[in-house]
Amino acid sequence: MRTLIRNATVVLPAGESVLDVVIEKGRIADIDPAAALPTDEVIDASGMHLLPGVVDDQVHFREPGLTHKEDLASASRACARGGVTTFLEMPNTNPTTTTCARLAEKLALASSKCCVNYGFYMGATLDNLEELQNATRTPGIKIFIGSSTGSLLVDDPDTLERIFAHTSLPITAHCEDEATVRANAARLGGGTDVADHSRIRDHAAARIATARAIDLSARHRHRFHVLHVSTADETELIGAAIATGGGLITGEACPHHLLFSTEDYARLGTLVQMNPSLKSPADRAALWRALGRGDLQVIATDHAPHTLQEKRQPYPASPSGLPAVENSLALMLNEAHAGRCTLRQVVHWMCDAPARTWDLVGKGRIEVGYDADLVLVDLAEKRTVRNAEQLTKSGWSPWDGVELTGWPVRTWVGGHTVYAQGRVDDSQRGSEAIYDHSRGGYWATGGHAETPFAGA
Ligand code: DOR
Repeated sequence: MRTLIRNATVVLPAGESVLDVVIEKGRIADIDPAAALPTDEVIDASGMHLLPGVVDDQVHFREPGLTHKEDLASASRACARGGVTTFLEMPNTNPTTTTCARLAEKLALASSKCCVNYGFYMGATLDNLEELQNATRTPGIKIFIGSSTGSLLVDDPDTLERIFAHTSLPITAHCEDEATVRANAARLGGGTDVADHSRIRDHAAARIATARAIDLSARHRHRFHVLHVSTADETELIGAAIATGGGLITGEACPHHLLFSTEDYARLGTLVQMNPSLKSPADRAALWRALGRGDLQVIATDHAPHTLQEKRQPYPASPSGLPAVENSLALMLNEAHAGRCTLRQVVHWMCDAPARTWDLVGKGRIEVGYDADLVLVDLAEKRTVRNAEQLTKSGWSPWDGVELTGWPVRTWVGGHTVYAQGRVDDSQRGSEAIYDHSRGGYWATGGHAETPFAGA
């Protein structure tokens, strides 16, 4: 089967051009082929933009154990609709993904349920060093340096030293200092109003934990990715580490921290309660500047579904996190439409940079030989996010009622169409992500030299 996508404006690493793209045997077989090439299927993509599929390197899909909120099949359908073709999922399921056997079980489950490509982090505990050392088939090690949803927590300094000293996989972490969070919570009597969430999980909590992790990374010469950066202070710490640190540190922003701030508690209440918490409009502006400078490289969702009933409990009984995977690309296309960033930056932050950060083979770019994980977008389409239309099992979005300009219209995973004309086809299975950690990650593969950050 050979598919020709004709006349799309293709977003290539080097720039945009109107081209034809040929898909064959699950791969990008040719770009701008000879006009006479015989094909089985022709898709006229005139007026549309063809992007690499989104690689979302931070999601929580709740299976096993919490499948009333989400499961691998429902989340994968949401990904397909959102243009996310590969997800990397976090270990705070029940049971946790903290042994090689549980990692293998999750991979087996995903191979039978996911219509998009999948990968799973190994979670660190106080006593699973050997499992972390033996793990393969994983993007890396996730440490909850601060606690969040679930029981995973490693804030003991000696254990953190051991993990950074004696493992070789790239490490990533949830950076909120547990002692600071607990002291703030005690001072505020646990909090009564959701705005207290940002006083409990405050700037100091984020800064202290991120500084500690960057220090560990530098002393042990260990690659480290800072998840969901929420403060201006952290962007400066990361920027300084990049300037002096020899290619070890990458950092990430989430759409919710880029688009909401503490001012949104009044309107959205516990729906925008997440960890790390929302910060000020000045912090939000600093995240955008850091993305523009290249001090943050990745945008990922931290998709963390809870039911509306759970979310509507009064604070602090309400859980932290929000679903985003089916709207993240549209949210960022809308930002590009508004002139806040460019389409190439969106592709860099959401596709190429995460693929290179985690050494993913064949992902993140439209290039001959890369996997045919693609998303066709209509930059002019206006559509309103509606709770009733969400495919996430949690069935809601904090952007309910918001009109966005720029939406995915068709998604391919390994050459198969998984989303088109508003419908998901989940009859095909995605593939396990493949990592080549010898590549050395984002900085070892060229940083952002090719991306036009100027004028952001
Ligand atoms: O708000 C959050 N919720 N942040 C996290 O890091 C975890 C997530 C969840 O799993 O619910």
